[in-house]
Amino acid sequence: MSQLSRRGALKKAAAFVAAGAVASIRSDSGPAGEQSASMSVTVQLKDTISTVKPAIYSHFAEHIGGVIYDGIWVGPESKVPNIDGIRRTLIEYVRRLGRVVVRWPGGCFADKYHWRDGIGPRDQRPRRFGRWKEVTEPNHFGTHEFMRFCRLCNVEPYFAANVGTGSAEEFQSWVEYCNAPAGATTLAGERVKNGDEKPFAIRYWGVGNESWGCGGKFTPEDYCREYRKFTEWLPGYGVPLYLIAAGPDGNNTEWTRRFFKKWTDFARAPISGWAPHYYCGTTGHALKFTDDQWYEQLDKANRMEKLIVDQWTALGEFDREHKIKLIIDEWGCWHPPGTEINREHLFEQMGCLRDALVAALTLDTFNRHADKVDMANVAQLVNNLHSLFLADGDRFVATPSFHVFEMYKPHHGAKAVKLDVQAPAVTFRAGGKEHKLFRVAGSGSVRDKALTLTLVHTHVREPAEIRIHLRDGKVDSVRQTVLTHEKLNAHNTFDEPNVVVPKTTEGKGSGEEIRCVLPPASVVRLDMRLG
Ligand code: AHR
Repeated sequence: MSQLSRRGALKKAAAFVAAGAVASIRSDSGPAGEQSASMSVTVQLKDTISTVKPAIYSHFAEHIGGVIYDGIWVGPESKVPNIDGIRRTLIEYVRRLGRVVVRWPGGCFADKYHWRDGIGPRDQRPRRFGRWKEVTEPNHFGTHEFMRFCRLCNVEPYFAANVGTGSAEEFQSWVEYCNAPAGATTLAGERVKNGDEKPFAIRYWGVGNESWGCGGKFTPEDYCREYRKFTEWLPGYGVPLYLIAAGPDGNNTEWTRRFFKKWTDFARAPISGWAPHYYCGTTGHALKFTDDQWYEQLDKANRMEKLIVDQWTALGEFDREHKIKLIIDEWGCWHPPGTEINREHLFEQMGCLRDALVAALTLDTFNRHADKVDMANVAQLVNNLHSLFLADGDRFVATPSFHVFEMYKPHHGAKAVKLDVQAPAVTFRAGGKEHKLFRVAGSGSVRDKALTLTLVHTHVREPAEIRIHLRDGKVDSVRQTVLTHEKLNAHNTFDEPNVVVPKTTEGKGSGEEIRCVLPPASVVRLDMRLG
């Protein structure tokens, strides 16, 4: 791909946006000879889907590599600015993400974690081998430290319990330790002694993780038996528990059907959420990829759409009223090693513009299925796979994906509405074959008089001129925020933290139809005030 032609296209798009006028854009051929056709987005203002729960913008923090130690926890004695041992800059940034959820302590780590290791005086806690590598897990970051982190960041906790090597008894006593009122039980008294009088009131509990793999290598039927045991007669101590069963590896509907067949063969255990994991992996390398690999990566991320629909259909065969919702509690890109900033940070990878588009198209997918998805957690928060932040000692930077999460915040708590997008597909080659990927996709939501439209434009070279048509409404004013860069692999570093950051401009359109230009390889948010 020629960076020069991308730069020209970006300038053209930017000029158009600033002028708020209709630019005439040549219909040059697309990546593999596609002709640009007339493109439009119709917003069906009266066709609402459901409320977008802020929890679908959630996160995941596991004891692995540099996520907890260095990323979150620097310790109270550290020279790195901290609040009670927690990295201060991280707190400030996570607060910007809204009232989301953070899942902890794993991942695979959860199925080896004994919660009692992480309470009591820090210097007396047992030292264990970490799950992932033969490194020492000092247990300095445990239940109270995680809760302090959540309270400082104003996020809600989600605990993942140990089914793999733990017992039902151990799980149930963790719930009691966290949720029982002071004075009610001995375990509640122990919590108070350890510094927290007020119950933690944990609502979200994951019963195991990847039970088909590192969580115990169970068959779906055997996992269902364990699940029953773990959740039987489990008091919430006044907190309505939201229990999450570990779902399949990707879109494995056979796992789902076998689990739920077992679930319905006798008394049904309480399940609020079903949690498949889907990583869209890599195509090439975190920062080195061809145009075809750019499209292929986005195409793999776009498989989330089918996963949601297929898993929902399978759930509906057993839970006809659809009381059980989807929790996609691990998702994101997983690139090969080589771009970590610290070799001790296992799975750390540099996130670039491509990862930002993966994040955006995935969040749009969740918005479009706001009636089905209750929560989703990108993996992982800091210093790992598709991370929002990178930190090493006193250095810290927000990745382009962080900016997507922040850009999408106006969707939180708004009503998702249906969109009808007309745009030609782009074609690309992968595995010796030709494939098609959407050129423009997105999601919309409405709150009072504010319509938020987020769009992902995948074409690497050409801008897209879009007509935005409002069914049953009119636009009074519009503002456009764009995240893009002339380099597809542009990323933020400690030395250059503002390479990929969003830029906002006022628009001039109004009425039932407005026009805008999406720069190549971009994420765009349109904030429209309805008349
Ligand atoms: O996110 C890294 C690991 O990926 C998690 O621990 C596990 O659940 C998944 O396989």
